[in-house]
Amino acid sequence: MNGPDKNSATINRLILGRHWLVAGVCIFAACAIGGTCDSANPTIDPIVPADYRTTFTEVRNCRFSIEHDGVQIRVWANDIAMAAYLAEENPLPVGSIIVKEEFAGGTCDDDSELNILSVMRKEAAGFDNEDKDWHFQEVNPTSRVVITNTKTDCIECHRNDCSARDYMCTVE
Ligand code: HEC
Repeated sequence: MNGPDKNSATINRLILGRHWLVAGVCIFAACAIGGTCDSANPTIDPIVPADYRTTFTEVRNCRFSIEHDGVQIRVWANDIAMAAYLAEENPLPVGSIIVKEEFAGGTCDDDSELNILSVMRKEAAGFDNEDKDWHFQEVNPTSRVVITNTKTDCIECHRNDCSARDYMCTVE
């Protein structure tokens, strides 16, 4: 293959790639607007807003987590939750959103080390009678893709060890 052919093949690939990218963005947008996609690729809305760092309050500053070795965490609460969380009330009000940021490094200063958002939202009565109507999620902080949307991986600790404060575990 000579030079020009090689180049046009590359350009074709680039153009084709672009089209796939555009198609992907359209499909993603359609899913986001509709709220759901086909069952093979469900799109679940994160229960934490994208702007939580400007609209929520930091209620626990950066500290080492006893849950996972080597992880630094920081906890944020929305306006509905903040006062009740700080007063360690039980129960917290419906609509409370608590976000735990988990950083891989030794501080909470570098967002490139922010690996995951663990989130809990207090839903209306009846959402989960067994576990105080808490909705558990893990969200990718960059893509905002919901990685976990069930309590399965969360509930054993939060239910058993943290029942005194409505499933909140972080101490002073
Ligand atoms: C091994 C036990 C354990 C598991 C499993 C666990 N947590 Fe936690 N969680 C804790 C502890 C302990 C804390 C207190 C802070 C810390 O040390 O990380 C906490 C804190 C939190 C907080 C901050 C609110 C607060 O003050 O307690 C949120 C939000 C949270 N976890 C969400 C989740 C979600 C979502 C899952 C499942 C995907 C999960 N957790 C799984 C033990 C656990």
